[in-house]
Amino acid sequence: MNVVILAAGMGKRMQSELPKVLHPIAGASMLSHVIVTARQLQASLNLECESPANLCVIYGHGGSQVPDAVSADSAGGIIFAKQEPQLGTGHAVAQAIPHLNDAMPTLILYGDVPLTRNATLQRLVVAAGSNKLAILTAQVDDPTGFGRIIREKGKICRIVEQKDANEDELAIAEINTGIMVAPTVALKKWLGALSNRNAQGEYYLTDIVASAVADGVEVSSAHPDAVWETQGVNDKKQLADLERQHQKNLAEQLLLQGVTLLDPNRIDIRGKLVCGRDVTIDVGCVFEGEVVLGDGVRIGPHCVIKNTRIAAQSDIKAFCHIEGADVGVQAQIGPYARLRPGAQLAEQVHIGNFVEVKKSTIGAYSKANHLAYIGDAKVGRRVNIGAGTITCNYDGVNKFETVIEDDAFIGSDSQLIAPVRVGRGATLGAGTTLSKDAPEGKLTVSRAKQLTLENWQRPVKQKT
Ligand code: UD1
Ligand code: CA
Repeated sequence: MNVVILAAGMGKRMQSELPKVLHPIAGASMLSHVIVTARQLQASLNLECESPANLCVIYGHGGSQVPDAVSADSAGGIIFAKQEPQLGTGHAVAQAIPHLNDAMPTLILYGDVPLTRNATLQRLVVAAGSNKLAILTAQVDDPTGFGRIIREKGKICRIVEQKDANEDELAIAEINTGIMVAPTVALKKWLGALSNRNAQGEYYLTDIVASAVADGVEVSSAHPDAVWETQGVNDKKQLADLERQHQKNLAEQLLLQGVTLLDPNRIDIRGKLVCGRDVTIDVGCVFEGEVVLGDGVRIGPHCVIKNTRIAAQSDIKAFCHIEGADVGVQAQIGPYARLRPGAQLAEQVHIGNFVEVKKSTIGAYSKANHLAYIGDAKVGRRVNIGAGTITCNYDGVNKFETVIEDDAFIGSDSQLIAPVRVGRGATLGAGTTLSKDAPEGKLTVSRAKQLTLENWQRPVKQKT
């Protein structure tokens, strides 16, 4: 199957500098959703087909932004054809002609129609067979703006655009979604014969239907399971609507897998979320990139979790921000904790409120329960890090490592000036500024001795 994705339009109503098809749904551009769908379909069809399946994106508005964005986040192998100026959907598809393999049919998709499901496209492919033209059509309540499907004795004979339609035609509720599959050799011929003598002065792709009928090629149809599958985006309202629809679909998948969502309308997944059994997710959470939650994990309300693995039975309390972290089993994180890339926590670690951990390993049973910064550190097992502790890891140019060995106790409000080591079982007195290694098993304290001045008096304001 050849696939052509139309993505040249400007998307004026998006009111944006960014080309329309690069606007995101669930954190990935609409175009990338369409490419993923096309690739999946090609992969499933290629089991039966030997020749290479080409994927061609027609771009135009926004210059190289579209090809640049796609090559940055896809596996490659995509052909880009530039359409300039944009003279209509038929003219757009014609730009792909040199790249279409005659041995297989061609599917036409749209970079601004991001949510079409594989099952629907499979039905369209079946309807097309090897030599038919198949159109994905839908019955809608309000067909205004769409091309209408004109049938005679039940068979599709042409498509008429809104602006070219007469009153009877405008009353037809079966619309052209735009998505179609055509036999490739015939498609090339039909595209070559298009004219722009119509109300919009454009080369309409839809005119190939009448050409097919004239050539005696059968025109068949298939229909989407749901209306949103073929809805396109022209403005931010429609983008937001499809984003909600997509999130609803993802939430339903999780519910079916047995994940507890306290409100399926209040979760956002921008990537891949893999959950074990008995996972519970409270409201307002955002998951980005690849996130894996082990069995029995509980995520409190309003957490942002990105590219992270959280092992079984861990409890993430409200308002945590976690990115690039690896959290061991039965950990307690938050509320209000921040785990940054390279935070690796072993089993039963506790990271409490207003604690930030970056590029550090923390051994089993260790705790930092309040107000601390742990960066570039190796923390052993059963370590207690008191409130207000800071690893001073940065001199403005270089980063240095702090090592805290097993069973150490760091008194509150200590600063550990890296590179520095706290030995096994060592204790730091509260308020210590540690600039040299603290020996194991001993109390190290750096603060000045406390003294009280017996005859001191507080100055008093003179009355004038
Ligand atoms: C098109 C169909 C219409 C269908 C509707 C569904 C035609 C003539 N009409 O109308 O029957 O009901 O889609 O939404 O095909 N594009 C290009 N280059 C161009 C023109 C368009 O890449 O020169 C792209 C646009 O960016 C857009 C898509 O093709 O993604 C559809 O173009 P648009 O002008 O919106 O077509 P409609 O008038 O909506
Ligand atoms: Ca449109």
